[in-house]
Amino acid sequence: MHKINIAIDGPASSGKSTVAKIIARDFGFVYTDTGAMYRGVTYLALKHQVSFADEQSLVKLIEKYPITFKQTESGQLVFAKGEDITDAIRQPEVTNNVSEVSAFPKVRAHLVKAQQKIAVSGGVVMDGRDIGTTVLPDAEVKIFLVASASERAQRRYKENQAKGIKSDFATLKKEIEQRDYTDSHRSTSPLRQAEDAVLVDTTGMTIDEVVTAIKKVIKEKV
Ligand code: CDP
Ligand code: CDP
Repeated sequence: MHKINIAIDGPASSGKSTVAKIIARDFGFVYTDTGAMYRGVTYLALKHQVSFADEQSLVKLIEKYPITFKQTESGQLVFAKGEDITDAIRQPEVTNNVSEVSAFPKVRAHLVKAQQKIAVSGGVVMDGRDIGTTVLPDAEVKIFLVASASERAQRRYKENQAKGIKSDFATLKKEIEQRDYTDSHRSTSPLRQAEDAVLVDTTGMTIDEVVTAIKKVIKEKV
């Protein structure tokens, strides 16, 4: 397989990162989790007590603490300058505020530039909300993953249970729907399917079934 770029977009918990990691591993490509970068800025704002509404100061944080990835045997690590923030960016306080931070055009412009740099030589599987529409409009393969909100909340609920984290299904579902609404209604690069993306509704599908469906699309396109 030559070094094509694969864009995987979709709403929260549609399975993007899980399947993107498997596809990247199987093709020997690099996986890039762009959500981790927006989460990183949100974490930095919390840490440095910068208001989520202060776009200019958020941009300064990105410039001062560039967010980068490091591939390791046990998975991908996320860094803000020298600090390993891989686990810290998953905390609920980050999750519940990231959509506000990611709506700012200047925050997006900085992170989109960094994402495009990662993909410049090809061989990247990148997941997010605007990869097919804005970050990599020329990606050879574009997938838009969806699933019902109930199923996506159920997946998160099970994931939390497996990690020993207590959560409530109704609250998870509400939070997911709220984040999808904010992500889809912002003016800069809202979450939407690119015209040339292939829609995969994963409701009721296992991870293996989704991976097989995406590999079929890749085979047909390339
Ligand atoms: O994994 P999960 O679905 O919870 O979300 P994520 O991919 O980690 O993304 C977290 C948040 O970052 C999203 O809800 C969006 O607000 C923002 N995001 C974005 O605006 N654009 C992207 N390309 C990726 C994420
Ligand atoms: O990256 P995104 O937020 O789109 O979703 P994810 O973190 O890859 O997946 C959310 C959860 O759903 C994980 O626990 C996956 O193992 C699970 N999942 C699933 O049960 N069935 C699928 N077809 C895809 C993901």
